[in-house]
Amino acid sequence: MPSEAAGAPILSVQGITKRFGGVQALTQVSFELAAGEVLALAGDNGAGKSTLIKCISGVHQPDEGEIRYKGQPVSFAGPRQARDLGIETIYQDLALADNLDVGANVFLGREPARRYLGLLPAIDRRQMRAAANEVLKQLEIEIAPAKLTKPVRTLSGGQRQAVAIGRAIYWQAEILIMDEPTAALGVPEQRKVRELIMRLKAKRVAIIFISHNLQDIFAVSDRILVLRRGRAAGERRIDVTDHDEIVKLMVGADL
Ligand SMILES: Nc1ncnc2c1ncn2[C@@H]1O[C@H](COP(=O)(O)OP(=O)(O)OP(=O)(O)O)[C@@H](O)[C@H]1O
Ligand SMILES: [Mg+2]
Repeated sequence: MPSEAAGAPILSVQGITKRFGGVQALTQVSFELAAGEVLALAGDNGAGKSTLIKCISGVHQPDEGEIRYKGQPVSFAGPRQARDLGIETIYQDLALADNLDVGANVFLGREPARRYLGLLPAIDRRQMRAAANEVLKQLEIEIAPAKLTKPVRTLSGGQRQAVAIGRAIYWQAEILIMDEPTAALGVPEQRKVRELIMRLKAKRVAIIFISHNLQDIFAVSDRILVLRRGRAAGERRIDVTDHDEIVKLMVGADL
């Protein structure tokens, strides 16, 4: 039994296998995640990283294996169900609605219920903006007030990422999953996203993030799970490994 101090895992994935027709995307992958812990998924293109997180976020249903969330076995019919239980995922394309403003994006798909002829009244729009403001402030995300009311397509990549993270926090995600959060960002924005990850960690959010950037991985994660051809090639605590070893696990070279 894991001790209380070490923290019982908030998520436990055991023996997940996923096939797409003849493609074996995942074979018997297992790992655990505690609250406030950051787990990085590393691996070459096609290793199965995105498929693994999609099995956790309800996009895919695994063919075999078990997922336990807060100690209970779960099986999500779709992403909405996982999200309602506190598992938020930010995909690489972010799934922001480009033509809506920041407030509307924070509430996307979960707007305050008062609609009239399919339109949101001005007052709810103001409420959404106020709530979005509040959460951005909490995370120390700076977006010029004038930009808050503009479509999010006018924001930078880093600001868009921040809005997506803000949305997850507003809805009290307990697990935040991020697929390549810094891939499309410039260096200052990458640093900002790293900071946000550390801030969420301090709030005891459990985080899984995929990255091809080992610098990112070593900067923010506690552990690294390396996938290779759909299998767990190794799992290492950050303090007992280095870039070299992780690369070797990724490519399957002799250690
Ligand atoms: N919806 C799908 N239908 C068929 N095959 C798929 C599907 N999704 C993924 N695959 C296959 O499963 C394998 C794992 O893909 P996955 O997207 O999980 O890799 P990845 O590690 O995320 O790679 P990348 O770093 O390039 O994003 C690949 O062989 C891929 O072609
Ligand atoms: Mg992927």
